[in-house]
Amino acid sequence: MEKKCWYKEMAVYQIWCRSFCDGNGDGIGDLWGVLSKLDYIASLNVDGIWFSPLYPSPNSDYGYDISDYKSIHPDFGDLEIFKKVLDGAHERGLRVFMDLVVNHTSDEHPWFIESKKGTDNPYHDYYYWRKGKGKKRPPNNWDSLFEGGAWEYDKNLDEWYLHIFSKKQPDLNMANPKVREEVKDIMRFWLDMGVDGFREDVITYISKAEGLPSAKVKLPAATGMQYYTNLPKVHDYLAEFKHDVLDFYDCFTVGEGPRMEPDVALSYVREGKDKVLDMMINFSHMEADCFITDFIQRPFDLIKLKKAFTKWQKAMYGKGWNALYMENHDHPRVISRYGSEKYRVESGKSIAASYLFQRGTPFVYQGQEIGMLNTPLGSLDEYKDIMTHNNARIARSLGLGKSTVLKLAQKASRDNARTCMQWSDAPNAGFTEGSPWFVVNDNYRKINVESQQNDPDSLLNFYRDALQFRRDNPVVVYGDYVEHLPKSRELFVYERNLAGKKLLVICSYSEKPVRFDAPEGIHLDEGKQVFGNYENNFVISNGFTTRPYEMRVYLF
Ligand code: GLC
Ligand code: CA
Repeated sequence: MEKKCWYKEMAVYQIWCRSFCDGNGDGIGDLWGVLSKLDYIASLNVDGIWFSPLYPSPNSDYGYDISDYKSIHPDFGDLEIFKKVLDGAHERGLRVFMDLVVNHTSDEHPWFIESKKGTDNPYHDYYYWRKGKGKKRPPNNWDSLFEGGAWEYDKNLDEWYLHIFSKKQPDLNMANPKVREEVKDIMRFWLDMGVDGFREDVITYISKAEGLPSAKVKLPAATGMQYYTNLPKVHDYLAEFKHDVLDFYDCFTVGEGPRMEPDVALSYVREGKDKVLDMMINFSHMEADCFITDFIQRPFDLIKLKKAFTKWQKAMYGKGWNALYMENHDHPRVISRYGSEKYRVESGKSIAASYLFQRGTPFVYQGQEIGMLNTPLGSLDEYKDIMTHNNARIARSLGLGKSTVLKLAQKASRDNARTCMQWSDAPNAGFTEGSPWFVVNDNYRKINVESQQNDPDSLLNFYRDALQFRRDNPVVVYGDYVEHLPKSRELFVYERNLAGKKLLVICSYSEKPVRFDAPEGIHLDEGKQVFGNYENNFVISNGFTTRPYEMRVYLF
């Protein structure tokens, strides 16, 4: 039997503050807005909040380029209101997790400004400054994931600095012990204030290969990746953070690991003395309709989705713990991707049931709980996200026409997840009384919190009920995971078992009627149907024929 533990039992709500709720009427979501919505968040039956970065930032990457780690972006408020939110959350039994972005800082962070002043400046070695190869050639051939090459030249120093992301996000040199002390200092600052842990941004990138070698093989827009992804030192640095800081607090950490495989994830999260993170966010199940990035699209394939989930469920069982999610600020809305806008509520519930009842800690992203959809914008200029513009530029350079690229962006842009939260059918969806910083989807009159609040059949109330059920039934948290019908292209079916209890989850990802027959040894009429997204749930010959995106959950 699994050791009981709070972070395994919790569910987490993710807030991307700029678009969550505007409390002071300037059109930008802020912490006054969050404070006013704490009761709503608690009503979702989650146990914690993960805040995407709240710190001062020039917003080249909307908060993921930080210019001060120990303060709050003036758009969002200040430390005083943050503390109110923290206390208010704690009073409601919600833990609070901060985004820790230490692979890079903003180029406007004082450390970077100092580091540029001279090669003998004490901060120079906080970053990767190198001489170029001859005139005008960068130190190596690595690509930036956000814009062209990974190096930017500084005339004054006659040196280049490394930036895996935008040139406004210079990479920190974690090999420098002083930088690691800074990270620990930041951690202590927030933990001492009462924060309960961190989501650690691209944490698997924080060590770079000795000598920063050029890559022999070029990868499209990602050359050099192998020299900064999951190097052995990452583990050492995380162990240092853990032993020097985290072990002194009752806190939790989840790392973000792009292109992560379970065996590598286990090197960080395996239970035991070498564990350096509690869980790892992986991306495999986000590729069921695309290839590596949301921009290289292919038709949605349920088998790919199931394979990805099942691979992680099996690999982590008894060894580590999964972070479960379907949406966050980096991906388009899941109903628009894997479900059906036409059957929005039905498919929304089916998608939700297919991950909330798996083994792991579920994360729910703002707006996901009411089934917000993608928001296609009319032209590329309207997109705010730097990654969208980078991908559009690459697509154009590969010869794709403007309108094709716009269509790609409309489906794939991270901005789909960053439109304003839809609270009600009031102007601007009740997000702001001012003029919103970014678009509000026109569908807000229909899709909003208020209209779902008291409707027992709403998606919102399904999320609430499912998360309450997870709290009440240890089989959902600690049970094993057995997949059925892995070859079905329409149905995602799995069971969970713990101490004589069994949960059977059946989710259709199709409009088409599909016959479902209960697996050997399971008699549906012996169980109790605890969830469904249709009325009249007949069982005929120990099975049923699905209605569009039908979902049923049975407890035995
Ligand atoms: C992570 C964040 C993403 C950000 C990137 C660079 O992937 O989730 O939003 O752009 O790191 O910090
Ligand atoms: Ca505001």
